[in-house]
Amino acid sequence: MKMVDVSAEVATALTSSGICEASLEAEVLVRYVLDMDRVDYFSSLTETFKQSEECRLNSLVCRRMSGEPLAYVLGCREFYGLNLVVDKNVLVPRQETESLAEEVIEFVRTRFLEQVTIADIGTGSGAIALALASNLPGARLLAIDTSKEALAVAQVNVNSHGFSDRIDLIQGDLLEPLDYAVDIIVSNPPYLSTSGIARLALEVQSEPTLALDGGDDGLDVTRRLFENAPAYLNPRGAMFVEIDPPHLHDAIGLARAAFPQEIVGFSNDLLGLPRIVRVELKRVDD
Ligand SMILES: C[S@@+](CC[C@H](N)C(=O)[O-])C[C@H]1O[C@@H](n2cnc3c(N)ncnc32)[C@H](O)[C@@H]1O
Repeated sequence: MKMVDVSAEVATALTSSGICEASLEAEVLVRYVLDMDRVDYFSSLTETFKQSEECRLNSLVCRRMSGEPLAYVLGCREFYGLNLVVDKNVLVPRQETESLAEEVIEFVRTRFLEQVTIADIGTGSGAIALALASNLPGARLLAIDTSKEALAVAQVNVNSHGFSDRIDLIQGDLLEPLDYAVDIIVSNPPYLSTSGIARLALEVQSEPTLALDGGDDGLDVTRRLFENAPAYLNPRGAMFVEIDPPHLHDAIGLARAAFPQEIVGFSNDLLGLPRIVRVELKRVDD
């Protein structure tokens, strides 16, 4: 069978399972099995697909059709230009979280000239911590998660990108493992309501519950994070928390209650939805 026909067959199978970008995913899966870049793939479409690769492709397609996220099937996902290993123990890093990393990078570049200490709470695959370490050469990162399985994945990513000297991975609850205050707290906490998870697409439901479940109103972890944060933030520091857009009003309220004297604001993601709540501690000279 020619590669073009194999791809079309895979696309049809994926479409029948309700996968939206079936043609694109078919291409990605075929290229993955053949270890080909896009240029080679498009110039080889009329070549014969090796039978020896068919079994492997079929097993990947079956996993995808059963609702496993594409990133788990491939075992990797790109985040902020870094290729990260992912598996069922970590949330698949999302594009909207790149806005969170971007905002922290901008803040540090405009406010801190030299060293900065950043705590990434709920680090999962290590996505945010790695994006920050790779763009902020003076940053020291403390990346915390309750899940030791997630931390094992993060450790692989930290090692493979060569940041083990600047990123410490720590198991624990929110800020509790910190022995000292930090300059910046950043977090993408679990923020879906427990009842809402059951209504999500199968592939989102297959991500770890610990990474998704924010309790009855979705704000359990966010609430505790804001409540505890003042004791762990240096003067002139800042905090950046990803939110579910419908939580904007409540999350701003939590931030204001925890930091009544400070500057609280929010920003939108690339789709124009409110996604990040930000607290900036007033500088002494402000
Ligand atoms: C939404 S995921 C974010 C993962 C990663 N930071 C990202 O943006 O892709 C939330 C992470 O928080 C972790 N987590 C949940 N509750 C926690 C807690 N109380 N303390 C520390 N980490 C927690 C989960 O294990 C999960 O890895």
